[in-house]
Amino acid sequence: MIVQAVKWIGDVDGFLQLIDQRKLPAECVKLRCRDVEQLYDAIKTLAVRGAPALGVSAAYGLVLAMQKLSADSNLKQGLDVLAKAGQLLASSRPTAVNLFWALDRVRLCAEKFIATKPTLSEVEGPSTKLQELRSAVLAEANAIYQEDVDMCRRIGQNGEKFIKQGAGILTHCNAGALATAGQGTALSVMFEAHKKGRKFKVYADETRPLLQGARLTAWELKHAGINVVIICDNMAGWLMKRGHISAVITGADRIAANGDAANKIGTYSLSILAREHGIPFYIAAPSSTFDLSIKSGAEIPIEERTADEVRFFEDKRIAPDDVDIYNPAFDVTEARDITAIITERGVIEKPNARKIAEHLQ
Ligand code: MRU
Repeated sequence: MIVQAVKWIGDVDGFLQLIDQRKLPAECVKLRCRDVEQLYDAIKTLAVRGAPALGVSAAYGLVLAMQKLSADSNLKQGLDVLAKAGQLLASSRPTAVNLFWALDRVRLCAEKFIATKPTLSEVEGPSTKLQELRSAVLAEANAIYQEDVDMCRRIGQNGEKFIKQGAGILTHCNAGALATAGQGTALSVMFEAHKKGRKFKVYADETRPLLQGARLTAWELKHAGINVVIICDNMAGWLMKRGHISAVITGADRIAANGDAANKIGTYSLSILAREHGIPFYIAAPSSTFDLSIKSGAEIPIEERTADEVRFFEDKRIAPDDVDIYNPAFDVTEARDITAIITERGVIEKPNARKIAEHLQ
């Protein structure tokens, strides 16, 4: 069973349906986003999360924003609404580049529509073309959605060979269907190996503080019939030492031109542990996760989240309230510690700037 974390329901006047990931695994409930402010809140509070799912959701957010235009609005007002909604969504979470990539793509598509189709009077006066612009924006969001579904499947097919019969695979956070429009990135590799009949065990780091591993990855893998064991984040090194881990596979939120990859906080530590124990470390990500505008991971903005996520466990306080808390949500794994990056196009072994540029050309 592959869950649909993000789905557009209806035509240009439709809504965005999300699985509310704040409530998993206790309840699997759907959240209907009907305006861009509601979507902003859903992204901020992690009702929807994971880099590719954020990109797809943001694209549909622009479709929602355009629903607010009145019938006599002109195309210029349409572009203004897109720009304002884009700014709001772009301020929700800073690390996953897919969000910015999708917003840019929809904006460019709208600008292209306006540059090629209507006359100037239609741009600035009441326009019969507004409906067409709204349809073009929805079509672009649908294309981003469909491409993500395809990329996820191909990532799995390109990476499944790295999971050998009897392997122990360690993963961190959630890079599954819940994090994408399709069947995930790191988990897609596992789903495809499972489809081939291979038996293996997945160790899912619980992933403090928000427990995406325990709540989401374990939930997805269990439903898929894959053998999954949850471990606390501080147990990985010991499992490696005892020979339980044959490979680490995670997703990524942004990959710099040189291959440095940001992912959920704790991934960097795993990469160092994997290097120390001679264990291969794979990143699975679509090409929309690469940011070739930045040279290295040092330039990746790292989201810092509220102290209460660490201070409280649900409603229960688990730390004194007068103690400082630091809560960065992501870290950066250095390219030299990545055995390979698996994308929808193939595999980049020992990634570096030249190989990445060639791969994405
Ligand atoms: O804070 P989150 O839950 O959005 O963090 C998600 C991750 O770190 C994922 O590993 C990453 O986005 C890749 S998802 C295919």
